[in-house]
Amino acid sequence: EGVKRIAVLPGDGIGPEITREAVRVLELIAEVRGHRFDLVYGKIGGIAVDEEGTPLPDETVRLCRESDAVLLGAVGGPKWDKGPTHLRPETGLLGIRKAIGLYANLRPITVFPSLIHASTLKPDVLAGVDILILRELTGGLYFGQPRGRRQTADGVEVVDTLQYSEHEIRRILRLGFELARARRKRLVSVDKANVLESSRLWREIAEEVARDYPDVELVHMLVDNAAMQLVRNPRQFDVLVTENMFGDILSDEAAMITGSIGMLPSASLGSEGPGLYEPIHGSAPDIAGQNVANPLATILSVALMLRHSLGMEDEARAVEAAVRAVLDAGHRTRDLAGPGEPALTTAEMGDKVRAALRACLS
Ligand code: NAD
Ligand code: IPM
Ligand code: MN
Repeated sequence: EGVKRIAVLPGDGIGPEITREAVRVLELIAEVRGHRFDLVYGKIGGIAVDEEGTPLPDETVRLCRESDAVLLGAVGGPKWDKGPTHLRPETGLLGIRKAIGLYANLRPITVFPSLIHASTLKPDVLAGVDILILRELTGGLYFGQPRGRRQTADGVEVVDTLQYSEHEIRRILRLGFELARARRKRLVSVDKANVLESSRLWREIAEEVARDYPDVELVHMLVDNAAMQLVRNPRQFDVLVTENMFGDILSDEAAMITGSIGMLPSASLGSEGPGLYEPIHGSAPDIAGQNVANPLATILSVALMLRHSLGMEDEARAVEAAVRAVLDAGHRTRDLAGPGEPALTTAEMGDKVRAALRACLS
């Protein structure tokens, strides 16, 4: 069996702390199962701005293209918030998604039974929730042209453009149907078709693609209602497919179903090339460098990498089982612990997961 090359981009804020724990999970799997992972580090985001003068150095793009998978921590922070667009950390993240064609962002929301009381939502609303948010990742408001700012006689005027091609909409919806078919066969397509032209085309194409999937139930839902339904009755959702910005917002909201934004992993996939794996949360500047961040979203992103890019389903399940075992044993980082309850550090949580993983792998 060949060596798998994995690009590791820790980024900013808590990025390096959480990525470290996830990398150690990969190293343990290699050791126990005899795999060979070649981990190559690259720069992205604010640290790349500081050291290379750009949030996405060419070398990082090359590294990612030459890898089997990419593991990313998080980017951004107040230090870089005042800069021009091309020197923003977030521009580096959007750039790498676009450069390797990662149009599909999978954000699974699964409730770990032992975390049901960690959520701000009521336990009976949460039991059994299992949602897959499928977010379009390389189109829409994030990438549409024109965009920018200009001075007019009446003051500053700004423009962002919500742009989609038929092709971009069709491929993400088709994937939504495929994923729903492999699950509970219910696809909720979220849009704002009562207002937006882009959403009206989205709906038309959804109807058209649905004809190829008679076994999948298609439901259209307006995004404002979807935001409400996610907390009213999240069990009604199986696969939720939506455009870039709606998916960004709804997935942070849905994170609270799991108990913490520190729990939600993601996989970003294209039609070819490496997949990119990252937690859905950001660089959490408010807790960076304190060794208190929850590393589980990043560790669960490693499970998605093992599954979707490395063909190691058994190892993926072992990682997920290890996380479950650690939570069942009552271990919590600060974001999950109740008030006054003891909490583990980032590194301690990583240690617990690896101890459990050793048992799950053998
Ligand atoms: P954030 O997700 O970084 O933090 C929101 C809140 O959640 C904060 O209180 C933070 O402490 C907490 N939090 C986040 N991750 C946590 C974890 N693993 N464990 C415990 N608590 C956690 O969002 P924000 O504060 O709006 O953004 C901060 C920066 O991160 C911004 O610069 C933003 O652009 C960037 N960002 C980057 C990504 C990414 O790299 N993919 C995603 C979102 C935001
Ligand atoms: C995410 C983040 C990014 C996004 C930002 C940092 C560009 O919020 O990965 O969810 O909006 O896609
Ligand atoms: Mn986000």
